[in-house]
Amino acid sequence: MLNIGLLGLGTVGVGIVQILEERKDYLEKLIKKEINISKILVKDIEKIRDVEINRGKLTTDVHEIMEDNSIDVIIEVMGGLDKPYEYIKEALSRGKNVITANKAVVAKHLEELTDLARKNNKFFLYEASVGGGIPIIKPLQEQININEIQQIKGILNGTSNYILTKMVTDDLSFTEALEISQNLGYAEADPTDDIEGYDTRRKLRILSTIAFKDRINEDNISCYGINSISFKDIRNIKNMNCTIKLLGTAVLNHNRYYASVEPVILSQDSYLGKVDNAKNLVSFIGNMVGELRFFGEGAGRFPTANAVLSDLIDITTNTYPKVNLGMNVNLDNMNGLYKGKY
Ligand code: NAP
Ligand code: HSE
Repeated sequence: MLNIGLLGLGTVGVGIVQILEERKDYLEKLIKKEINISKILVKDIEKIRDVEINRGKLTTDVHEIMEDNSIDVIIEVMGGLDKPYEYIKEALSRGKNVITANKAVVAKHLEELTDLARKNNKFFLYEASVGGGIPIIKPLQEQININEIQQIKGILNGTSNYILTKMVTDDLSFTEALEISQNLGYAEADPTDDIEGYDTRRKLRILSTIAFKDRINEDNISCYGINSISFKDIRNIKNMNCTIKLLGTAVLNHNRYYASVEPVILSQDSYLGKVDNAKNLVSFIGNMVGELRFFGEGAGRFPTANAVLSDLIDITTNTYPKVNLGMNVNLDNMNGLYKGKY
């Protein structure tokens, strides 16, 4: 039996429960084990949920989950920073595998949690933390074994992309578009992180740290959001047959990084200009493979739950690629043949 402790039953948590129910027979055959969500941590047990759930599984006491030795995997989809960090650390220390969709925690504690998982011979996986339903962390980790990654670029926040799309194509106001994206479950509990670019910056910090095999801190990434873009700006941009997107870009050039998050005016015909609504697109350039582009739903219940469950399958089938994250490697000591040439 595979016993799961689920932390959170909101937009993403409900998606996980529903997919696991719908795909139960198939997944159980695949991993050759029964799958059981043993307990679910919530804030309010009485709340009406979007999914039918046995109330006996709900708890507001995390210890019930952590101290249950039969639970093998913790899936953290509760959001926030300090509590989930504490719970993830405790779970790894107690020998449980951990999957999270929480980019705030991953961005702040990636190295420490990766190290803790390694020491305990457990997995700490976070595919859903970047790009919603798009597989990007795993493909990037596969490519760093062979390539030196020279650039990462992308639209990494579904909410801000949804807002900008609706402002450009449907003449909606910023506030109207934000409200719809909140109702669709794209936005963070506090949407400031989405619209001021912090969420994109966290995702860029995660991707560039993996890609460049060095610690890239959020503080080293300049960050401008979309909150000051006015109707007048949008009108002028449209008059030029252009559109505007919030881009995250990280470049490695001659052992130096440059990383930024900022709104960029793009031709409507460009590949990034055509990425609409809550879609994300991430591209990276490797010195051997060239440019790879990943496109799909960057937020939302089922795409995100899908990414979480891909991690679960990789853990249970032990198929996650062997990677050397190489954290804290000094790039000056790496003798990449093509380093810096692009
Ligand atoms: P959400 O809808 O706000 O759900 C959060 C859930 O966690 C709720 O069930 C809530 O309980 C529970 N929870 C929150 N704080 C808690 C606490 N202190 N103690 C116990 N339970 C607590 O959030 P979400 O949209 O599913 O997002 C979850 C995580 O996934 C976040 O880290 C987010 O950044 C990430 N993520 C979200 C998306 C997306 O499209 N939504 C995409 C990628 C990543 P109650 O239900 O009782 O209030
Ligand atoms: N709030 C995030 C977004 C969720 O809009 O992209 C997915 O990480």
